[in-house]
Amino acid sequence: MVRKATVQVVLLTALVVGCAGAWTAVPATAEPKAPEKFTTFCVPCHGSAGDGNGPAAAFLNPKPRNLTDGKYMNVRTDAQLINVIKNGSASEKFSPLMSGFGGVLNDMEIKDIVAYIRLLAVPKYQSEK
Ligand code: HEC
Repeated sequence: MVRKATVQVVLLTALVVGCAGAWTAVPATAEPKAPEKFTTFCVPCHGSAGDGNGPAAAFLNPKPRNLTDGKYMNVRTDAQLINVIKNGSASEKFSPLMSGFGGVLNDMEIKDIVAYIRLLAVPKYQSEK
């Protein structure tokens, strides 16, 4: 009886540790919360790949920015991206279609999302000095 319980505990521990390992291996970014926030707030327009083809994109003109377009995105500064995300696209003189997220995301979360967006760019983003 005791033996069986011990075996169960060992198996359970292995299972939990195994799952934790698989879980931490998933996000490709240092900030595991950023993809989650991106999915909640940004994917409806920008799409899960960030290429601007979210479900709402069909109804928008201009289209949500293709965040994977490194040629365009990589010359935008972090400050510009932070401003757009925090205060809306109109704050950088774009269309007013994207509202600001300063009310639901704090500065740290916005910085983490910018870091996440940078990972989507092709060609790869080289960080500012
Ligand atoms: C209602 C749809 C919508 C949502 C939701 C939305 N965006 Fe946008 N976003 C847009 C549109 C449309 C543009 C392009 C505006 C234009 O070209 O005038 C844009 C532009 C951008 C840009 C480009 C800024 C630049 O410098 O060109 C970034 C970065 C961005 N969005 C990030 C985000 C992030 C991060 C989120 C989630 C927190 C988000 N967006 C949520 C519609 C949306």
